[in-house]
Amino acid sequence: MSSMSSWPVRTRAADSASFLILNASTRIVRAVYSNVSTVLTYGFIFVWDAGLALLNLVLPNKRPGNVVPLGKGGIWPTYQPPRAKSDSRCSCPALNALANHGLLPRDGRQIPFKQLTAVIRHSFNFGPTFCFFVPWFAANMLGRSYWTDTLDLSDLDVHNGIEHDASLTRDDTYHSLDQGRPTEHHIELLLAHASGAPDPRFPGVPTLTTSDISEVLGKRRVESRAKNGQYSTSTFHNMFASSNAATLPIMFGGIVPDLRTFLLEERFPPGWETKCRRRFGLTFTEFNKTVLKIEMGVHEDHDEMRGKTDGWTDGKADDSGVFVDKKDK
Ligand code: HEM
Repeated sequence: MSSMSSWPVRTRAADSASFLILNASTRIVRAVYSNVSTVLTYGFIFVWDAGLALLNLVLPNKRPGNVVPLGKGGIWPTYQPPRAKSDSRCSCPALNALANHGLLPRDGRQIPFKQLTAVIRHSFNFGPTFCFFVPWFAANMLGRSYWTDTLDLSDLDVHNGIEHDASLTRDDTYHSLDQGRPTEHHIELLLAHASGAPDPRFPGVPTLTTSDISEVLGKRRVESRAKNGQYSTSTFHNMFASSNAATLPIMFGGIVPDLRTFLLEERFPPGWETKCRRRFGLTFTEFNKTVLKIEMGVHEDHDEMRGKTDGWTDGKADDSGVFVDKKDK
């Protein structure tokens, strides 16, 4: 009786030992594979990007009106704002705009990561390296496969994944769980800081420069730190913030009326075409120059800035849409 009862116990022990070993080895192999493939992917992107940047230097830019196949010549498919509850939207105005124009599924759901690559390549003229890397990074962030899986736009709003505090166009998650909708107040404040030379299309209207953006990013970080009890920050998120912001001067020329349409309505202005006309699109090599310029220009020393920002975030747009509390008090 005793031998009968101990036999299955020993077998279970043996089974569970071999199961543990198999399980542990599978996990180790997967972890090594994942790390090695990540390092190889980063290396490949770096080399590919440098090559494209060199080609961009020697080849002529694309002709205006003929830069991208989607929205060619500034003619975009019909804009429809999202249906309030059922459509999925996220913290990225660019992806929302693409869904609002039907270039991504209008409901913002079940979008293959690979589709993001193709659509941002052919609408903004980002280089193929960026267009692969960012959706691939997002897929990894969500624990999904870039090659076979899909996302709903709101999946991108996982806090402190890519989405972070102190954005230019959204309240912090602490204040607003819905990151899919722009915050008018922050956007008007950003645009009110424009101080660059006007674009000929809008004489007398200053454009948004990289130093204007640095100034507002600094203010937003100080404000968030002061008003958000769960404020968190990291170099990675700061760099992402500056990268997102760098698209405003690069892709939109900092032109305020265009940016107001894009950021507030998440819509492409009629006739709008990306300002990046590079033959192989915007490479990381070129993009990062603007990103670093913006990030290096940010001042967010809390004590130094505190007095300066008191009150500026409480301003409101007047009837004509002009922000009342403009610059530093
Ligand atoms: C698949 C590609 C993309 C992904 C996964 C992505 C993701 C995101 C996310 C998660 C945010 C929120 C960051 C925050 O919390 O502030 C964001 C913001 C933003 N993105 Fe994208 N994005 C993509 C492509 C683009 C493109 C092509 C543009 C070009 C215009 C762009 C421009 C912006 C801008 C202007 C912001 C707002 C930044 C702010 O509010 O501070 N993004 N993006």
